[in-house]
Amino acid sequence: ITSAPFLALTAVLGYLLGSVPFGLVWAKLFGLGDIREIGSGNIGATNVLRTGHKLAALLTLVGDVGKGAFAVLVARALLGDDAAQVAGLAAYLGHLYPVYIGFRGGKGVATWLGTMLAVAWPAGLAAAATWLVIAAVFRISSLAGLAAAALTPVWAIAVGHGDTFLLALLLGALIFARHRPNIGRLLRGEEPRIGRK
Ligand code: G3P
Repeated sequence: ITSAPFLALTAVLGYLLGSVPFGLVWAKLFGLGDIREIGSGNIGATNVLRTGHKLAALLTLVGDVGKGAFAVLVARALLGDDAAQVAGLAAYLGHLYPVYIGFRGGKGVATWLGTMLAVAWPAGLAAAATWLVIAAVFRISSLAGLAAAALTPVWAIAVGHGDTFLLALLLGALIFARHRPNIGRLLRGEEPRIGRK
């Protein structure tokens, strides 16, 4: 068990890392404008893809997945499994409420995926597979994220990682909360397909 001051430090550093808004950064660097004024206004890879710039979208995905995974892996290497889960949760909350851009962040699917992959890779792989299957069938990113978020607590238990069930449940619930506008659009049949504006 890691001591409380180290866990608190882990949470702060994980949060600061998770707060880096890669979508905003790459869109600016590639001259695409302020991603918050494009498409859904979200800072994630799906919305960066709406600019038509596939490399910027890919780099956003890599950055947002990577910061969750990196936070978890470093915390685990230095402090162990408890700290790893704290770091993943903190990085995820950083993405949702980034300190650098007025606490108005993203919806968290990519950072959640990176966190789950690093905390318990079989559960993370099941989450990624769920996203890919739903995205391939329906071509709707938010629907794929919601389906993966809902099923991953079940996958965590199914693959023998019940220790990550609560984390998967908490992060999954937050993904649903962050997708309220998307859920409304899905119910009205107005949610755009992947890559469309
Ligand atoms: O990962 C974000 C995705 O689920 C929804 O993004 O831009 O379509 O609202 P967006």
